[in-house]
Amino acid sequence: MNATEIFEIESKHTSGLYGKQPIIFVRGQGALLWDIDGVEYLDCASGHGVANLGHAHPKVAAALAEQSTKLITLFETFYNDQRAALMQKIGTLVPGLERVFFCNSGTESVEAAIKFARISTGRPGIVATMRAFHGRTMGSLSATYNKKYREGFEPLVPGYSHVPYNNIEALEKAVSDETAAFILEVVQGEGGVYVADKAYVQAARRICDEHNTLLIVDEVQSGFGRTGNWFAVQSYGVTPDLLCCAKSLAGGIPMGAVLIGSAVKNLVPGVHGSTFGGNPLSCAAAVAALNAIEEENLAVQAAEKGEYLMQKLREIDSPLIREVRGMGLMVGLELKQKVQPYLKALQEQHILALNAGLTVIRLLPPLIITYAQLDHLVETLSEVLKTAPAAGQAE
Ligand SMILES: Cc1ncc(COP(=O)(O)O)c(C=O)c1O
Repeated sequence: MNATEIFEIESKHTSGLYGKQPIIFVRGQGALLWDIDGVEYLDCASGHGVANLGHAHPKVAAALAEQSTKLITLFETFYNDQRAALMQKIGTLVPGLERVFFCNSGTESVEAAIKFARISTGRPGIVATMRAFHGRTMGSLSATYNKKYREGFEPLVPGYSHVPYNNIEALEKAVSDETAAFILEVVQGEGGVYVADKAYVQAARRICDEHNTLLIVDEVQSGFGRTGNWFAVQSYGVTPDLLCCAKSLAGGIPMGAVLIGSAVKNLVPGVHGSTFGGNPLSCAAAVAALNAIEEENLAVQAAEKGEYLMQKLREIDSPLIREVRGMGLMVGLELKQKVQPYLKALQEQHILALNAGLTVIRLLPPLIITYAQLDHLVETLSEVLKTAPAAGQAE
């Protein structure tokens, strides 16, 4: 298939749900992607935070190749060696969260956690935060704040409320004996790369405990080494009752999970389930991915590289920059104007990055990105901020 055919076919058959970019990627390796003409791009988006290990990681590829000839699918009513290996591994990542439910995406992990909270407590209330993004299916969407995602889909699931982020007083008022769970992104991704205060996360734990409310932490974007720990919440000395994860769990293969603490009750056969959840192929990929994160010390690397990147970004002398913030390699560069033209200009210089809202450039590079590649990113960004559309001309 040539480029013209690919553009035509996708344009004809697409659902229409995606704002398509006119580039056809056909290959990836590490932090690099190549288009159909062999043009190289530096990927600082990682497929929206999936490729923590970079593209085509050899250990994930080998695990997939091997497992695909043995057993691809198996419902979780039967036992399996790969699933057991993954449960053993993932069940030790956060002390206190030893049980796990497997699913296939981030939104599914949030849906499951919300169901678990309700069935466990027998209560309806779910408190979420302003600017939160938890996914697009109805339960997760109801916890998502931005009306851009919600409008047109009402009525959403009843029982949800939203409180301002990092505001302990508002949380005290919102959580009651009718609240099943408080759901929190320790680092808000889509919402603009905002990092929770330590006092806030610790207060959230206390407030939840006072009301026997479960604390759900959504680490779909921040998980698996990206913020300098297996999970961002571990930097706060807090253990949630339910931890949602997905994205990079299986090295790029679709997979989600909920890690479950001892306070979560009533999880008995039939309460929830997933046809594909915990299939041997995804489990084999996830075991390889988690081992690679550990063997290559990627969480520590993410912390160090993140500090380096944020320092370099802070050194850029541009009146357009409002703030640089983040945790590990989950980095936001807030501008005083809309970022879309700058993202486009970066792409023209063969660097992929993301937005987070209208005014934040979000950088989620693979954790294996090199320092030379980070320097190239910062230099290009610095140039783009000088030469791309002047202030006021942004769309
Ligand atoms: C924090 C968070 N939760 C949930 C989701 C939804 O994940 P998915 O797109 O895999 O359903 C995302 C996706 O970006 C996310 O960032």
